[in-house]
Amino acid sequence: MPSHDIHCRFFSQEDLLAAGCLDIRMAMDAAAEALAAFDTGDVLFPEKIVQIFNDETQERINCLPATFKSQRICGVKWVSVFPPNPVKHGLQNLSAVMILSEIEHGFPIAFMEGTLCSNIRVGTMGALAAKHLARQDSEVIGFIGAGEQAKMHLIAMKTALPSLKTCRVGAKLPEEETQFVQEMSALIPELEFVAADSDLERAMDGADIIVTATSAQAPLLKAKWMKPGAFYSHIGGWEDEYDVARQCDKIVCDDWETVKHRTQTLSRMYKEGALTDDDLHANLVDLVQGRKPGRESDDERIYFNAVGLAYVDVGIAIAMYHRGLESGLGQDLQIQHEMIFEHSKLKEWVRL
Ligand SMILES: NC(=O)c1ccc[n+]([C@@H]2O[C@H](COP(=O)([O-])OP(=O)(O)OC[C@H]3O[C@@H](n4cnc5c(N)ncnc54)[C@H](O)[C@@H]3O)[C@@H](O)[C@H]2O)c1
Repeated sequence: MPSHDIHCRFFSQEDLLAAGCLDIRMAMDAAAEALAAFDTGDVLFPEKIVQIFNDETQERINCLPATFKSQRICGVKWVSVFPPNPVKHGLQNLSAVMILSEIEHGFPIAFMEGTLCSNIRVGTMGALAAKHLARQDSEVIGFIGAGEQAKMHLIAMKTALPSLKTCRVGAKLPEEETQFVQEMSALIPELEFVAADSDLERAMDGADIIVTATSAQAPLLKAKWMKPGAFYSHIGGWEDEYDVARQCDKIVCDDWETVKHRTQTLSRMYKEGALTDDDLHANLVDLVQGRKPGRESDDERIYFNAVGLAYVDVGIAIAMYHRGLESGLGQDLQIQHEMIFEHSKLKEWVRL
């Protein structure tokens, strides 16, 4: 008689961190492999399911599944976005969990905290883009926004571009800049940090790499602040003036077809006829697969926008799961011991 035990591994955020999963190189490999796998038809990626609980605040929970057929693993990201959380409750906006299942028997193999994976994915896509599109001698990175995404992006960019020497940061409140500098200088002490005291132009001064990661809906980044040769990673919604994209020599997205139907700057431009399909240089996978060139000269200004492809999150989660298993961390979760009608105590438990 086969055992009907079903077990899976639970990894808290702390387990994943202690296992060494905040590893952008690992995530870049996983993301590049995921993009290539999708490109060759190896990924099942159905439409996400969105449940919005408040139209005004856009409080929502999304369910985003994907299957890597060759790896025989199906996963899902269950992600909550509650924009009022920070201001109203002092809590994070985004929180997520991931479930992975094997597809031999269809049983779950992992239940994991997913905010870490989700945030790592955002930074990793920026880092992968920077690998192909940024000047490899970039020294100055400038941030508009000093929140969770900005912090992860700094770790990712420093990994992709070890030449970075200075980090400038501008946010809505100077206190956020101070916190950013305190937290990030402890992690990357070799960087020189400059807080711009909410003067966003100052934050962009001399930036080879520009990152906007804000909750604003306004054209904060000005085209004239972007110098020739700069690489721009756009993370938030509408946060740059249209001339930023217009003056760029190349525009690259994680997936243009996805990007153009959303609400960030490039999508707005597309919907208003200020940008067409012909203005797009490539999707990131075209660079990863070598179909299209990345940066071709030192003077090119390049714009990158990723809105998120959940199969990449699942790809990174699989890499984290393997590393978590190797570490021996996490806990065994027993999902079931017997099949329902095999339980010897079922007569006591059933409520007829
Ligand atoms: N592209 C993606 O895949 C992806 C994934 C997750 C989140 N996001 C988006 O990234 C953005 C940032 O997310 P987060 O978690 O870091 O948010 P957060 O709340 O932690 O930080 C937001 C930052 O925006 C800054 N900001 C807001 N208004 C500003 C203004 N007028 N001037 C200057 N700075 C301003 C704040 O000072 C703060 O530092 C959000 O828009 C979020 O929806 C994108």
